[in-house]
Amino acid sequence: MLKNFIQNLPKAELHLHIEGTFEPELMFEIAKRNNIQIPFASVEEIKAAYEFDCLQDFLDIYYQGANVLIHEQDFYDLTYSYLQKCAAQNVRHTEIMFDPQTHTDRGVSFETVISGISKATKDAEKNLQVSSLLIMSYLRHLSEEEAFKTLEASLPFKHLITAVGLDSSEKGNPPSKFKNVFKASVKEGYIPLAHAGEEGNADYVWEALDILGIQRIDHGNNSLQDPKLIQEIIKRDIALTVCPLSNTALQVVDDLKNHPLKKMLDMGLKVTINSDDPAYFGGQINTNFEAITSALDLSKDMLYQLAKNSFQYSLLPSKRKEIYIKELDTYNKNN
Ligand code: ADE
Ligand code: ZN
Repeated sequence: MLKNFIQNLPKAELHLHIEGTFEPELMFEIAKRNNIQIPFASVEEIKAAYEFDCLQDFLDIYYQGANVLIHEQDFYDLTYSYLQKCAAQNVRHTEIMFDPQTHTDRGVSFETVISGISKATKDAEKNLQVSSLLIMSYLRHLSEEEAFKTLEASLPFKHLITAVGLDSSEKGNPPSKFKNVFKASVKEGYIPLAHAGEEGNADYVWEALDILGIQRIDHGNNSLQDPKLIQEIIKRDIALTVCPLSNTALQVVDDLKNHPLKKMLDMGLKVTINSDDPAYFGGQINTNFEAITSALDLSKDMLYQLAKNSFQYSLLPSKRKEIYIKELDTYNKNN
């Protein structure tokens, strides 16, 4: 019964790395047409390699997969394929992170990346009725100077980008490392967001809030270490984009039954459900909803609240939020 409710529940996805949607089948296809060798003989072999002990373990393989993306059409196909999955799961709106440095460091131009991605989002809005906003993420294992170069490269395409994010290896790369580039990004009109408290501790979340001024926290699990921080997040009305299957795949949480999501909701934290890197972590957004619902015995009211949060804490203008929430409310009343 709840499986059906989840399937058709209107929702938004707010934490999604486009490079993390790269399914092995499409990876093989693009590698072949670009004449690039990948170190796997079959789709099954790729899937078998997806066993991770920690975030870094995953990142190593994730950056390797992205190496086959060369042409604008590759980025288009990757993005459109994800957006088709959104449509099939009643994801009405998505906020897509992309990592320009993963590509520009290999000699692919910023323009190639953003053009392929943004053309796919425009076509999906028209053909699939899924809306999208783009989040340009800085890789935190690289220097702030490198991030500044990315900011500079993005400026001709500013009209296509809504926010900046911060991702990659968290431990040892605190938000304060990116203080100046975030300040400059905000000056350019980008909304500041960041991964914080996934593997890093609560201090990293404090820094992301106070030094970078972020308006949404990606993951944020380790905020629960600090009751003062929890109160501050609630006071500032900031949402946490939680990714259940990512958390178990990267051993941030040992078992979904011990996932803190329900605790977060009970404390009054604004939480959303997301897939993070669905091709690597065993499921799209609806699989995440189903898995956490069954592990924590979530109620229909909780699922409604999670979907409502996803629109409420999106980066959309309030008029658009209202339209989506109205659609959700009608659905909730009739199901
Ligand atoms: N890049 C892609 N997925 C990520 C995650 N879960 N944490 C940090 N960086 C990422
Ligand atoms: Zn992420």
